[in-house]
Amino acid sequence: MAEKYHRATLSRNFLKTITRIKNPDEMLEEAKGEGLEKTLGVWDLIILGVGAIIGSGIFAVVGIAAAGSADGSALGAGPALMVSMIIAAIACIFSALCYSEFATMIPVAGGAYTYTFATLGEFAAWMVGWVLMLEYAIGFIAVACAWSNHFVQFLSGFERFLPAWLAHPPMWLVNDVFAAGKIVAENPDAYVPRLFGVPICINLPAILIVLLMTAILVKGTKDSTKMAGIMVVVKLAVIALFVLAGAFYVRPENWVPFAPNGAEGIFAGAFLIFFAYIGFDALATAAEECKNPQKDLPIGIIGSLIITTIVYVLVALVLTGIMNTSSTVPLDFLKAPMAYCMSINNMNWAAGLISIGSLAGLTSVLLVLEMAATRILYAMSRDHFISKRFQKLHPKFHTPALLTWTVGILAVVGILTLNLDVAAELCNYGTFTSFIVVCVAVLILRKTDPERPRPFKVPFSPFVPAMGIICCGGLMIYKSMQPSGSALLFPVWLGVGAMIYLLYGFVKNRLNENKLHNEKVKQRKQELSK
Ligand code: ALA
Repeated sequence: MAEKYHRATLSRNFLKTITRIKNPDEMLEEAKGEGLEKTLGVWDLIILGVGAIIGSGIFAVVGIAAAGSADGSALGAGPALMVSMIIAAIACIFSALCYSEFATMIPVAGGAYTYTFATLGEFAAWMVGWVLMLEYAIGFIAVACAWSNHFVQFLSGFERFLPAWLAHPPMWLVNDVFAAGKIVAENPDAYVPRLFGVPICINLPAILIVLLMTAILVKGTKDSTKMAGIMVVVKLAVIALFVLAGAFYVRPENWVPFAPNGAEGIFAGAFLIFFAYIGFDALATAAEECKNPQKDLPIGIIGSLIITTIVYVLVALVLTGIMNTSSTVPLDFLKAPMAYCMSINNMNWAAGLISIGSLAGLTSVLLVLEMAATRILYAMSRDHFISKRFQKLHPKFHTPALLTWTVGILAVVGILTLNLDVAAELCNYGTFTSFIVVCVAVLILRKTDPERPRPFKVPFSPFVPAMGIICCGGLMIYKSMQPSGSALLFPVWLGVGAMIYLLYGFVKNRLNENKLHNEKVKQRKQELSK
């Protein structure tokens, strides 16, 4: 076999092989034969979309994006946060339109990974799949840890009713491993176990929520969307409560100066708050499970983006109206801005409800991110990049159970080992890259396959895809110019991905081609001998 493979690779033009595209018709055919159950309608998609988008971005990151102390100690947007939100939303809308064109044209699992295979070829597709793992799998880990922080805060609010060990759990059981040193330094009396003398922390709530989400996803996509639906209602209700109750405490003088850090603050805010929009693209990865993808997917993708933009701008208006974001803001505002604004106005009951809403918000984000990660890997397994075994569906639930559990277990390993600040930033890099690639891919397929039916067409092409590339590329370059761990790690991630492709994905695909070729020859021989 090895010799055959060797000969085969040598006889092929390497470049031609790695840039060979997969015909969209072939993808549609494959999806028909062994597809996932089609259960999602337009409302399921909007729920999944809003479920995926509204999470730690609006419940936590918004405070950092708003903090724009005029003395230069915080570089956020100040009251101009709503402008930052609109800028980030516009960048997303351009990409969302491109996603919609592809999702309706090739409604199979895999999202940006699949679209890249249809336009830029095998190697680029692998790399996009690899980068998407940053967005979905690493994003999943980062949000699970944010969930854990909110959960611990939530428990401490019930200290009068809960036993002490639950209201204030041991620190080593609710923090990640990178926090261990700091905990030991700041709390010399706190118990922290040691392994070979090194203090160890385990983020137990994050691990438990990951396992719970995995079990729910295995049970079924429809059940998962039902659960996401409940979460979406809860989080939208508490946001509505914040906007309606908070409106009475708005002081218009807090909106002056409007942009304490000028255009720089507005763009810094737009970069940060971009995280709050991540997730709408996850809908495209579930295309194969839609009842009517051609009609429903564009409505689901663009509809959920519009709903969240309106919600975000209203929150920004009230938040910056209650809190003076042009001067130094307290740490508690940065951690949980909405709850903080309620508690300083003597509405502790509302602050409590907001923490429940934020937990619900983060839970639905987790569900969709994990689902998206598994659907991309599912498509990659169909293309022989990873083992075919992962394609096996659960006999009762018809979901890729082995794959979902594998993602869940890997996420647990990530929680135990990753530095989460870097993980969240890497998640942004992965998202920018996939958005840019999808915009480029739309332009390419319009040229190479103009006749293919497009139930939804990006309007004003090439202007809209080009603007998507410019906006996302601009934000990515902006971030790369600031020294950070993620700016260095992103190229490393790409390098590791390329190595794995060359040593594993490429080899596996060629072996599979040889196998198919040999089978065909054998079949032909049998036919001739008859
Ligand atoms: N948009 C998602 C959130 O804000 C990732 O949590």
